[in-house]
Order: sequence, then C-alpha cells, then structure tokens
Amino acid sequence: MLSYRHGFHAGNHGDVLKHWVLVLCLEYLKQKDKPFFYIDTHSGSGLYSLTDPYARKTGEATEGIGKLWQAAKWPAAMAAYREVIASFNPHKLVRYPGSPAIAAALSREDDRLRLIEMHSSDLSALQKQFARDRRVKVLEGDGFVDVKGLLPPATRRGVVLMDPSYEIKSDYGKVIKSINECVKRFATGQYLIWYPLINSVAAQRFSEQLQKLPCASWLDVQLAVRCPPQGHGMYGSGLFVVNPPWTLKQQLEETLPELTQLLAQDDGAQWSVQQHSE
Ligand SMILES: C[S@@+](CC[C@H](N)C(=O)[O-])C[C@H]1O[C@@H](n2cnc3c(N)ncnc32)[C@H](O)[C@@H]1O
Repeated sequence: MLSYRHGFHAGNHGDVLKHWVLVLCLEYLKQKDKPFFYIDTHSGSGLYSLTDPYARKTGEATEGIGKLWQAAKWPAAMAAYREVIASFNPHKLVRYPGSPAIAAALSREDDRLRLIEMHSSDLSALQKQFARDRRVKVLEGDGFVDVKGLLPPATRRGVVLMDPSYEIKSDYGKVIKSINECVKRFATGQYLIWYPLINSVAAQRFSEQLQKLPCASWLDVQLAVRCPPQGHGMYGSGLFVVNPPWTLKQQLEETLPELTQLLAQDDGAQWSVQQHSE
C-alpha cells in the first residue's frame, strides 16, 4: 500500500537540489551530439500544481522553489534549471515540474526516456502528459527491479534517477541492491540517487553504504537547510551521483554557499560535497 504523494512535497528544498543537479548532468551529456537514455525509476506524476490543496497544506514549495523564485539574482550555475522552471511558469510561479517533465524539457529528438511508476493515479497522469511524446515510454512497475531490464541502453550513454520516497525503511536496502545490479550491467552510466537527511539510523548509515558501492567514481552532495530537529522532520537531503560529470564538483562548490544561504531556515544550514575516483 503506497501512501506517499509527491504533490505534498513538490518544489521543496529536496526537489531543488535533486532537479538542479539532474539538469547539470543532462546538460553535460548534451554537449555531445549523441543521444542519451534517461530512466526515472520512481517517476511521480510529472507535473504539480502549487496552488492545489496538497501543496498549500504543507507549504513546502514556499520554503524551496518559492524562496529561489523571489531571489533578485540566482547563482550562475542554476541558469538552465531556472529556465526549465520558468518555461512552466510564464507569468507567476504556479506549477512545479517533476523529474520526468524536467528531463523531457531538456531532451532532444533522438534522446529516449523511460518512466517507471507503481502508483496507479500517478501512472495515469504520466500517461496523459506524455501520450504524444514519441521519445517517452511510461511503464507500470517496480522501479527497483524493472530498471535492470532496460540496461545497458543501446546508446551506452544514460542517466538513471532513483528517487524513492523512503516511506518504508526497506527502500534503503532496495536502493543498494538495485544500484549494485545496475552497475554490473551498465558500469559507465550515470546514476543519481536522492536521499533524505532525517534522524533515523537507517538514513544516517545510508550515505556510507552508497560510498561503498562498486563504482570507479562517485560524488556525494548534501544540503541541510536547518539544524537537525529532535523528532523525525527532514532537515535536508543528499544526492549521490555515480560517474559524475568531471565539471560537477566545481559547479556545486561554486554555487552551494549562495544556494544554502537562499534556502536557510536557521543557522544550522550547511552543505558538503565529497568525491572519489579511482
Ligand atoms: C519521491 S516520488 C518521485 C518524485 C519524482 N522522481 C520527481 O523528482 O519529481 C516517489 C514516487 O515513487 C513511487 N513508487 C513507490 N514505490 C515504487 C516502486 N517500487 N517502483 C516505482 N515507483 C514507486 C511513488 O508512488 C511516488 O510517486
């Protein structure tokens, strides 16, 4: 039984970090005139209203994309991300594109997208949104398992976004197992794994487990927007990137001081970037 609905959280600080880095990775791939393959293992519904009751109930977007939107100046390395968000909001900020919509907006005619989703209402929203886009296939299923059958892509250039909700603790172990299997099939692919920063033992061990994955190079970025609370609230998030573009670390380090300041909720806001390559 899946109860998580991304509509409550769309456009929050976690989405900003995840989608900005996704844009940087896709823009990097586009520097070559060769098609890429994009897989979203946990797609969500693709596009979210920021004025409907879901979004208004939590106000999370106000503390995320809403704060950036009001900033007089965005960090330079966020220009392409800003352009995508603006393309869905020509007048004022009323919609937030999810990862499938962002990837589709940046994809070219020969690029291909495979969007996996398990929840039936998100699935039908995705099917409707992409019904006329011949680059896209929407697939019903379990992203942790079904991603393997799509690898390696014929183009040998690809990005996999694995973005579960972690509403069930077993998601952490499933990510590790699935990525282990994926890198065996497609070692040179880029994999982006989002994770929350929360007070739980499973969450706190997770980044260490990711760093032990059998891959030649990785980058682990974290952005906390406030001090860790006593209870269970999410105080930030991380993105683990397998085979990151060589330009990514510098882009993040140049931008995160400004972005952290823009998104800070108290003086516990901080960022870190770790990188490893063999
Ligand atoms: C965090 S949301 C995805 C957000 C989306 N990637 C974005 O950035 O816009 C997680 C989604 O995964 C779906 N889901 C949960 N378990 C799944 C599974 N095993 N396989 C595929 N989708 C799953 C949920 O229904 C939910 O829509």
